[in-house]
Amino acid sequence: MKRIFFSFALLLSCACLRVTAQKKALPEEAKMNAFITALMGKMTLTEKIGQLNLLTPGGGVATGAVVSTDVEAKISSGKVGGLFGVIGVDKIRQAQELAVTHSRLKIPLLFGSDVIHGYKTSFPIPLGLSCSWDMGLITRSARLAARESAADGLSWVFSPMVDIARDPRWGRVAEGSGEDTYLGAKIAAAMVKGYQGNHLGDGNSVMACVKHFALYGAAEAGRDYNTTDMSRIKMYEYYLPPYKAAVDAGAGSIMTSFNEIDGIPASANRWLLTDLLRKQWGFKGMVVTDYTSINEMIDHGLGDLATVSALALKAGVDMDMVGEGFLTTLERSLKTHRVSIADIDAACRRILEAKYKLGLFEDPYRYCNKAAAATEIRSNEQLQAAREFGARACVLLKNEKQVLPLKKTGTIALIGPLANNKNNMLGTWAVNGDPQLSVPVLTGMKQAAGNAVNILYAKGANISDDTSFAKKVNVFGERIDIDSRSPADMLSEAVNTAAKADVVVAVVGEASEMSGEAASRSDIGIPESQRKLIQALAQTGKPLVLVVMSGRPLTLNMENEVAAAMLQAWFPGQEAGNAIADVLFGAYNPSGKLTMSFPRNVGQIPIYYNHKNTGRPQPEGPTQKFRSNYLDVENDPLFPFGYGLSYTTFKYDHLTLSAVRMSSQQSVDVAFTLTNTGSYAGEEVVQLYLRDPVASVTRPVKELKDFQKVLLQPGESKQLHFTIDKEKLSFFNSKLQWEAEPGSFDVMIGASSADIRLKAKLELQ
Ligand code: BGC
Repeated sequence: MKRIFFSFALLLSCACLRVTAQKKALPEEAKMNAFITALMGKMTLTEKIGQLNLLTPGGGVATGAVVSTDVEAKISSGKVGGLFGVIGVDKIRQAQELAVTHSRLKIPLLFGSDVIHGYKTSFPIPLGLSCSWDMGLITRSARLAARESAADGLSWVFSPMVDIARDPRWGRVAEGSGEDTYLGAKIAAAMVKGYQGNHLGDGNSVMACVKHFALYGAAEAGRDYNTTDMSRIKMYEYYLPPYKAAVDAGAGSIMTSFNEIDGIPASANRWLLTDLLRKQWGFKGMVVTDYTSINEMIDHGLGDLATVSALALKAGVDMDMVGEGFLTTLERSLKTHRVSIADIDAACRRILEAKYKLGLFEDPYRYCNKAAAATEIRSNEQLQAAREFGARACVLLKNEKQVLPLKKTGTIALIGPLANNKNNMLGTWAVNGDPQLSVPVLTGMKQAAGNAVNILYAKGANISDDTSFAKKVNVFGERIDIDSRSPADMLSEAVNTAAKADVVVAVVGEASEMSGEAASRSDIGIPESQRKLIQALAQTGKPLVLVVMSGRPLTLNMENEVAAAMLQAWFPGQEAGNAIADVLFGAYNPSGKLTMSFPRNVGQIPIYYNHKNTGRPQPEGPTQKFRSNYLDVENDPLFPFGYGLSYTTFKYDHLTLSAVRMSSQQSVDVAFTLTNTGSYAGEEVVQLYLRDPVASVTRPVKELKDFQKVLLQPGESKQLHFTIDKEKLSFFNSKLQWEAEPGSFDVMIGASSADIRLKAKLELQ
C-alpha cells in the first residue's frame, strides 16, 4: 500500500517537475495543460477510453435497465473514469484506493451523485424552491448541498436541472424551476454559483452538471423520454437560455438529454454539443450523457452500438454514463476510422481537466474526510436551513376571511394521508435523504402549537385506493400505503374528528413518487380517494384549510371552491412539519409565488403565461365564436404564473419612468412605490413584464424581464426601481440574431403575470 502511494506521489512529482521550471511564468491553465499532456503521453488507448466510462455499481437509484458489473476489476485495469451512486466516505475511499493503488497510472476517479435538492439533508423540491424567487436563498441551498456532499466524499453533482417545462403532466417538472426562461436562467446561474463556490478544488465545492441538454422539458404529451420537436426560434428564445446561463456561470459539466432535437437524439447531436455548446457558447467543461442514452439511440433508430457510440463521440460527448458503448466499441471504431484518436484525446483531456480542477490529482482523497462529514452532515445549520427553505417554498393560493394564520387556541382537526406521514415529505430525487428522519406535519404542528391548542388527527383516506397504481408508485419504497381499514371507516373517523374542531387542516395531494422521473400523469388531479375526503370535510361546514403537497401543478377546481384556504407546500423536505407549522401559525408569512401555471383542466396544457396573442385573440369577457378559445373552459389558468398571496396586502402606485423615449445606448429607470397595507410584516415579489406589440416576428403578450423580493413592515412604503435597457427589449429575430427593434413597448409592473398593477409605454428609437 505504502509503496503504491509512493509511486502515485512519484508520478505526480515527475509530472510536476516537468512544469516546475516554468512554474512562475505559467498561469494556472497552462500548468494544468502541461500536467495533462504529460499524463496522456503515458496512457494507452484503453486507458484513455477507460476515462470516458462512468459507472454505477448499484446501491443508489438505477434509472435505466442496467447497473454496472465487474466494477472493481474495471477500476483496477484503468477502465473507469468515474462512479456515481457510491455514497459515504468509507465506500468512496475504498473505490478511490482501487483506482490510485491498483490501476497502472493511478488516475483518481470522479465521484458523482444526484444531489438535486439537498444531499443528506433534503430541502424542498426544486420547483418549490423556485417559488421563493430568492436567488440568495437558492444559491445558499446549493452551497449547503455542496458542503454536505463534498464532506461525504463527492466531487460532482448532477444538478441543476434547468429544463423549461410548460406541461405539468411531465413528472420531472418537480426537478426544475418551472415555465419561465428569465427566472429559469437566473436560478440556473444561482445554483451553479452555489455548488461550485469560489473555487473548484477548495474542498467544499463540487462540480455542477447542468441537465438535461437540451429541451428535455418539451417532451410531447408530457410523457417522459418522449420526442421533442420545436422551431429554432422557440429553442433560442425560450428553452436554451437557462442552459446558457449555467454555462456562463462556469458550470464544469453538462449532461445530454434523452430526447431528440430536429430528429437527432441529443447524445449524437453535433450541432447541439459542438456547434452551439462549444463554438457559440464557448463551453470548456465536460459533456456526460444521461443514463445509457448512447445505447438508447439504438432504439431511437440510429444504428448498432458501435455506430451510436461513434456518433456520440463525434458529436462531442466526453463521458458515457453506464452504457459502456465507448468502452466496448471505440477501439474498433478507431481502427475502422469511424472516430479519430483526436476525438478520443479531446474527450479524455476534458475529463482529466475536471479531475485536475477538483484537486483530485493533488489529493485523490480530498473529499474523504470523516471529521468534515461528521460536522457537516445534517448539522444544525443544514436542518435550520431546510426548515427555512420549506416555509419559503410555500405558496398561499387562497385565504378567505383570513382563516390563516391559525390562532393558537381551540381545537384543530389535522386530517389527511399526508398529515402524519414520513415517507413522502422529501419529494422525488432525494436519493441520499432518509425519509424516516423527516418531520411529519402532525409533529411540527404539535410542537409549534404547544399546550394551548388541542390537535386531533385522523388519516381520512389513502393517498390512492388504487392498488395497481400504488404498485407503480411504490418502486422505491412504500409511498402509497393502503390502510387495512376500509375507505368508508377512515372517512367517517375523519368527519367525526372534524366535527369536534374549530378549524380543519387537511394535508392532501400526491405521493412523492407520483412526480419525478418516469412519473408522468394524464390526470393531474388529487386522487379520487382524497377528493371524497375533501368534499366530506367541506360538508361539515367547518373552515377548511388545504395543505397541498405535490411535485407538479395540480388541477384544483373543486378544492378551490370548497376550501377556505389553500397552501401549496410542494414537498418541503426533511423539516416538512416544522416548515408548514411555521407558515400555518404565522411564524413565517408566506411569500412564494408560482413559477408554473396551474391549469383548470388537462385539456388546457401546454399552458404558460408568455403565450402569443394569435390573430384571433379571445377578448376580455364571454367566449366568442371564431376566437382562439375553448367551448368548455376559459383560456386562463386557475392560478397564474407569478401568483401567490401573503397574510398582508401590498399597494403599488406612483409609477414614473425617467424617460418615455430611449435610444439603444440608453437605459430608463422605472420607479414605483410599494406599500405594505396590511397588518403583518411581509415580502412581496414585484415583477416587471414587457410586451413588444409590433415586431418583425410575433412576440408574447408579456414576458418577465426583472423582479425583486422586498420585505416591508406593516404600513411601510419603499420606492423600488427597475432598469430597462436594450438587452431587456431584445429578442431573437428570424435570423436568430438577438436584437431590439425600434418602436413602442408596454411596461407592466405586477404582483403576478395576471395581476398587473401599473402600466406605462416606452419607446425605443
Ligand atoms: C436521469 C438523470 C440522472 C441520471 C443519473 C437519469 O435517469 O435522467 O437526471 O442524473 O439518471 O442518476
